[in-house]
Amino acid sequence: MNSVATEKAGAPGFSRLVTIPGPVGRENWTGDLAVQACRDLESGHIVFLPNSPIEIPWEDRELLLGRKQSSSAYHKNIAYRPLEDRVTGLDSSEAGDAEKLRRIMRDFSRRSVEFLSDFLSPYAKTWKQELASFRPIEEKGRQARVHARNDLLHFDSFPTRPTNGARILRFFTNINPAQGRVWLTSQTFEAFGPMMVKAGRLTASVNNPVRRAAYTVARKLHLRGAHRSPYDDLMHRCHNLMKEDAQFQEDTPKNRWEFPPNSSWMVFTDCVSHAVLSGQYALEQTFLVPHSALVEPQRSPLAILESLAGRRLTV
Ligand code: SIN
Ligand code: FE
Repeated sequence: MNSVATEKAGAPGFSRLVTIPGPVGRENWTGDLAVQACRDLESGHIVFLPNSPIEIPWEDRELLLGRKQSSSAYHKNIAYRPLEDRVTGLDSSEAGDAEKLRRIMRDFSRRSVEFLSDFLSPYAKTWKQELASFRPIEEKGRQARVHARNDLLHFDSFPTRPTNGARILRFFTNINPAQGRVWLTSQTFEAFGPMMVKAGRLTASVNNPVRRAAYTVARKLHLRGAHRSPYDDLMHRCHNLMKEDAQFQEDTPKNRWEFPPNSSWMVFTDCVSHAVLSGQYALEQTFLVPHSALVEPQRSPLAILESLAGRRLTV
């Protein structure tokens, strides 16, 4: 992939960085500032905090950075399920550290929730806390199947975790002591989604009457996959189409961003086209934000797709 980014940072329709230099403590962060941050995120921008508000004790950081990566662990991120207080993705050789890793992930997850409950207060009452992850693998040169590659521009859509129109909000912290995490972004879903949907005739396929009838029957029978909404179907098709299109990946204008050590950033990854080019050791917490909590719901991928399809796409 061509990693030489064409600068489009200020251009309309392209994601840009909104830097919040701080301070961002509860006492400094008013409701108006929180609404503005939500609006920036919903517009497809990256809200960037040069000094991470998430404190990670020195000894926890040491353990994460020194985590041994055996060959089987090497290809995996660690996932933490906050609602079950459970860590997955550990290698058997790491059993000795399992309890410590669980505690570290739990602390990171709780601190992220605590911080964002004020920073993005309009979402906090109704969001659903999803997985947190630790990403210990160097992203540069990482091998994966084309649809799983994160170094290709995409909008997030997880095939096994349908959202039924809720938004995917992700909060990252770079804990690498020396190396930045490098991303590319391009046009937002609002700018680019409709073109892609029309070019791929995507709404025609989800509106196909035979297909719709088959879905209705499958849902009634509680068949596997039937809980996926037409919205999830469309978003996943967009995700795959983008990654499969080498010409698009090469030609589309991009911006390159480097998130330095000890910075945090947040983004709606379902409306920011993003790719990670390099970087190692990041922590991340995902939230699902319901459509009803959005500050500008008419700009959401759901609203855009429903207006293109001419019908409701949630179930
Ligand atoms: C992604 O969502 O594509 C991965 C981003 C990252 O790990 O920096
Ligand atoms: Fe992604």
